[in-house]
Amino acid sequence: MTRDPSPRWLRWPTDESRPRFAYGADYNPEQWPREVWQEDIRLMREAGVNIVSLAIFSWARIQPAPDAWDFAWLDEAMDLLHSGGIAVDLATATASPPPWLSTLHPEILPVNERGETVWPGARQHWRPTSPVFREHALRLTTAMAERYRDHPALAAWHVSNELGCHNVYDYSDDAAGAFRDWLRARYGTVEALNAAWGTDFWSQRYGAFEQVLPPRLAASHPNPTQQLDFKRFSSDALKDYLRAERDVLRRVTPEVPVTTNFMVMGETKGMHYADWAGEIDFVSNDHYVRPGAQSRDELSFSANLTGNIAGGRPWFLMEHSTSAVNWQSVNVAKREGELARDSLLHVAHGADAVCFFQWRQSAAGAEKYHSAMVPHAGADSEVFRSVVELGARLGSLAEVVGSERKPARAAILFDWESWWASEQDSHPTELLNYRQEALDWYSAFLALGVRADVIHTGASLDSYDLVVAPILHVVPQPLAKELARFVERGGHLVTTYFSGVVDENDHAWLGGYPGALRDLLGIRIEEFAPLLPAQRVTLDDGSVGTLWTDRIAVTDGDVEVWARYEDGQLAGGPAITRRALGEGSAAYVSTRLGTEGLPALLERLLGAAGIGSELPEPARGRVELTVRSGAGNDYWFLVNRTDEPVDIAGLAGEPLAPGAGQRPGLLPPRGVAVLRREQRAD
Ligand code: GLA
Repeated sequence: MTRDPSPRWLRWPTDESRPRFAYGADYNPEQWPREVWQEDIRLMREAGVNIVSLAIFSWARIQPAPDAWDFAWLDEAMDLLHSGGIAVDLATATASPPPWLSTLHPEILPVNERGETVWPGARQHWRPTSPVFREHALRLTTAMAERYRDHPALAAWHVSNELGCHNVYDYSDDAAGAFRDWLRARYGTVEALNAAWGTDFWSQRYGAFEQVLPPRLAASHPNPTQQLDFKRFSSDALKDYLRAERDVLRRVTPEVPVTTNFMVMGETKGMHYADWAGEIDFVSNDHYVRPGAQSRDELSFSANLTGNIAGGRPWFLMEHSTSAVNWQSVNVAKREGELARDSLLHVAHGADAVCFFQWRQSAAGAEKYHSAMVPHAGADSEVFRSVVELGARLGSLAEVVGSERKPARAAILFDWESWWASEQDSHPTELLNYRQEALDWYSAFLALGVRADVIHTGASLDSYDLVVAPILHVVPQPLAKELARFVERGGHLVTTYFSGVVDENDHAWLGGYPGALRDLLGIRIEEFAPLLPAQRVTLDDGSVGTLWTDRIAVTDGDVEVWARYEDGQLAGGPAITRRALGEGSAAYVSTRLGTEGLPALLERLLGAAGIGSELPEPARGRVELTVRSGAGNDYWFLVNRTDEPVDIAGLAGEPLAPGAGQRPGLLPPRGVAVLRREQRAD
């Protein structure tokens, strides 16, 4: 992995050089009278808060009319925070345009695929490609940068907020023009575009770029490559906007680091964050858990991927929740221990900042039922007591700050292009869920107590012994070659159904599936055999498949069939294959085994690759292990995934800052332990 030699972290305002976790929240003082501000500072200090993100949704207050500016209240808030020893991650305040702007310039409003305007009234109602919006937003960015360039509280710049949360796909005329420019740059000629998009299908051949549109509501399925390119373009358009704000900030305050909060979580897939990470000084992420059996696995998966997008270096958890959110269909409160466990799980995956949305729970507005560090009930509450406890615990874990993620021997390859392309319409099934398949593999690693990194395509595979590439659908020639080289040098590759099927233009590789990976896997599939929602298929190893099956022909003598279908149309045929290639191997899993079936298969794959758990037997599956490495020491984070105590007495290492009531050698339900272990020469 390439590393920036001079990564920039927060510019702490005081001259204290001692390492410390950043701890805090979004802070929205404009929602409260001045007396509350005083109390806020007092409570922040009590909780150990040392940073807040300020002014995220303050545009209408800062610039109440086109040529009217009001910084007085923000100056006061900045000064007050600074006098309380609290640093500021200052937003550029551009996330939500004020009513005067959308009234004066309705042409900044996004348009959906049906041609309907997205009206103001909520937030983020702006077109990523609008020149008018950009002009106004950059004017505000410049004003903010010039106003606060020398303010001692300023620790970092926070560009906009969750870019693309509500506006990634805009089908307006601005978007159409920018899409054409993007296509001109990608293809050069309209002929090349016609070839890439396969426009001889359904009489779609273009005579000029001017004829091309975003994939607006159409009579039937829009051209798939047009859809894929529109996803690429939409991510790039926001990245370009991010750069525009960043460039203003770097010009005015070159010494202040710039970040923006990503949303590596759940089904948020419009923004290609692995591609954005190089644009900012440090990676920040927002994460919210969803209820369900894999809730914490998903948190871990997202934090793991974020850490790898950050190049292994520390990153900033910008938002998560102290308890319930307000935007799910049922908003579940966190149970005892979950606030700390969720926070420390992010730290375990490399976060050096733990921040929440938000400091004080709003009394009005759409988020008034969203939890905060100070809830409606006030400081006399379990939530606030847990917040204070976590602040103290982070304070005593400070020696971990600055340590980096220690790579695992196994990895899951996460591929944005495959995520985008594999879930498009007019496919063999619309039930396929890319991220769920990847998460199921991750859950299997957790169930076995084996560490695995979640890495994005393009990250180096060199240090890994085993790589699982679930639904690696888009495989351009160079990626096929890289995977072949990985196997040739002794690596173990595992891939699944619907992998290797198309190239970068979403054109099928011909000659039989899995196209680009067919020779490496030593198999050939003539036709897909997806399953209906209620259909199941039993394999002769006892596992049960859903969603997908393949009629596999083995084409290479070194392929072993690890499992066959026992029933269904394909009974007797191979379901799981593995081709040995020198020291390495390439395996194919043709059905969805889910969290029930994957652990047993993964155990066998890991065994064949010589990879085992680093945890003692009783802790496997019950405890998640991650490792951070600092100068001379490794830090083992042990996170209890269960509601029962777990014995970890067999593990060497010195416990750091145990949680309240925590006994050495025992992880309480939902508890987290950190062990300092001297690094060994090997
Ligand atoms: C996002 C936003 C915040 C807030 C939270 C609520 O993360 O950035 O402003 O709306 O969601 O969960």
